[in-house]
Amino acid sequence: MADEVGFAVVGLGMGKHHCRSIISGKGSKLIAICDIDEERLSKGKEDYNCRTYVSFDEMLNDPEIQCVNIATPSGMHSDFGIMAVEAGKHIIVEKPADITPDKIDKLREAGEKAGVKVGCIFQARLDPLNIAIRNAIQSGRLGKLIGIHGHLPWYRKQSYYEGDHGSWKGTWDTDGGGSLMNQGVHTVDLIQWLGGRVEKVNGMFGVFGHDIEAEDQTVALLKFENGALGTIYTTTCCYPGYDQLITIYGTKGSIMKDASKLLNWRIEGDNEDEEEQEMLAKYGPKDKEEGISADPMAVSSDGHTQIVEDMAKAIVDDRDPMIGLDSAKHAVEIITSVFEAGRSGQTISV
Ligand SMILES: NC(=O)c1ccc[n+]([C@@H]2O[C@H](COP(=O)([O-])OP(=O)(O)OC[C@H]3O[C@@H](n4cnc5c(N)ncnc54)[C@H](O)[C@@H]3O)[C@@H](O)[C@H]2O)c1
Repeated sequence: MADEVGFAVVGLGMGKHHCRSIISGKGSKLIAICDIDEERLSKGKEDYNCRTYVSFDEMLNDPEIQCVNIATPSGMHSDFGIMAVEAGKHIIVEKPADITPDKIDKLREAGEKAGVKVGCIFQARLDPLNIAIRNAIQSGRLGKLIGIHGHLPWYRKQSYYEGDHGSWKGTWDTDGGGSLMNQGVHTVDLIQWLGGRVEKVNGMFGVFGHDIEAEDQTVALLKFENGALGTIYTTTCCYPGYDQLITIYGTKGSIMKDASKLLNWRIEGDNEDEEEQEMLAKYGPKDKEEGISADPMAVSSDGHTQIVEDMAKAIVDDRDPMIGLDSAKHAVEIITSVFEAGRSGQTISV
């Protein structure tokens, strides 16, 4: 199709999901892939039949590429992003946008200066159940929010942190942390997207079950700007790995969910039993599925595809993409504040 937007992907771990999303998405076309790992690159060529580049610089000269999806290690996102926007390309950046708020600001400034669009991946925001929960909260149906909690008791083997594509994980410099920044950033983003901005935090973290530098278990206390209190718990040590658990408590209603499945939906009113049954039928547990609690690659591609399709439309219609850097930054602000709190033993303003 003549009006398809040309995409490229750099980083072919999670980047493979981006390739599939670009190929299956409406209005997007995969032009090229880039990786310094030649084995991943030639497998990508076989699978996606597109141009391949070892050099990112060289790929940026390809005039058919309008948007570059960045799925390199997290602490390199803004470096690759700045190079791409300075070459006039729009970009989609994997989560976290980068590992410090400062680096994210630099990328945002470069994108604004270049006049290109910068989109971010937080696919949980596109989950219909999460959207229904957010609508219930924002319309005030839960009353005054008092508690917003996110738990992520996951499991990763030591081998996950080893080898060419593992050794950057769980490092401060390139991963910006471990269970909280890498795995937990989705949970942190989700609770702030549902419950609002976080004002201050306390935290504790450490290495409990792996030979890594940063942390594989973190606990944080949160005070939200709306007055609610909350907790975050993340680990990659918890054998065999359980699903993410989100609980939201309000004076007129409470909601609990497990990964993408609704567990409870109680909102005060005459029809509360009927409403809960209806919501459970729509969003409640179905057959047992293998999830990402123990398998890092078992991420659904649906959210990525929607974000790619949205970017393609944003480029054609010349509008902002649905998840921009400003909105993606707060999760990283919360996480870096939790680490600062853990190091200093103080309450930290976010
Ligand atoms: N949205 C999600 O649910 C999700 C899930 C997993 C990972 N991620 C994110 O995706 C990113 C990548 O994670 P991963 O697990 O795929 O890591 P990975 O190490 O498997 O993949 C990164 C790839 O980048 C390549 N790379 C590194 N330096 C490069 C360079 N200079 N030029 C070209 N390629 C280079 C590596 O060779 C590697 O293939 C991270 O930011 C991570 O947080 C997101």
